[in-house]
Amino acid sequence: MQNDVVIRTEGLTKIFEEGKKHEVIALDNVSLDIHRGEVFGLLGPNGAGKTTLIRILVGLLTPTKGKASVLDMDVVEDIDNIRERVALLPQEAGVYDRLTARENLVYYGGLYGIPEDVLNERADHLLDIVGLRKKEDYQVKSFSGGMKRKVLVARALIIEPEIIFMDEPTTGVDTVGARVVRNLLKKLSSERDQTIILTTHDLSEVTELCHRVGI
Ligand SMILES: Nc1ncnc2c1ncn2[C@@H]1O[C@H](COP(=O)(O)OP(=O)(O)O)[C@@H](O)[C@H]1O
Ligand SMILES: [Mg+2]
Repeated sequence: MQNDVVIRTEGLTKIFEEGKKHEVIALDNVSLDIHRGEVFGLLGPNGAGKTTLIRILVGLLTPTKGKASVLDMDVVEDIDNIRERVALLPQEAGVYDRLTARENLVYYGGLYGIPEDVLNERADHLLDIVGLRKKEDYQVKSFSGGMKRKVLVARALIIEPEIIFMDEPTTGVDTVGARVVRNLLKKLSSERDQTIILTTHDLSEVTELCHRVGI
């Protein structure tokens, strides 16, 4: 594993409704470094600020105080360039139910302007990795929760992101589905040296998957 820093936060603070009666300090002075190829777990109970941190790193929220950079670019000043190189799998992400597994990947990649022949090649490979090659022409609405998660992970990867953020990738998925997703993340990290930042409230998940943890 290389040791270069791909994400750095310094004194990152997010206060919602600042100065009001119901002010919430969602992030309080968070400083951390995440290195290339690492599976980094953000562990904490509901309301700890995990989603807030991820949303700042992909430019969906701005920090109240402090700084954050992704791939050496500032999350406030350079967010458009950052967005081209990272993928986010949101907590409440949904698949395109009426498309097939393959179409889910290719359609999404097309939104990033990637040519269709490139997308088809990447889709072959990703559908193999997630173990859905035989099911690639089935509409996703017939899939189990775990299979849909696999489609979502493959869909996020089709843009070949340097960093992938996953917000609670196994929450709401049954035990078998959660295992499938965990094994997939392990494989991505060991075979592709993919940098993965995931949030979870499950300590055992972090122990099993992550190289390092922030709490
Ligand atoms: N847009 C918002 N406006 C006001 N408060 C918010 C907003 N988003 C999150 N919060 C509050 O910030 C805290 C952290 O939330 P969140 O980052 O979603 O936590 P987690 O993902 O760890 O469960 C919570 O108290 C939540 O209610
Ligand atoms: Mg959350």
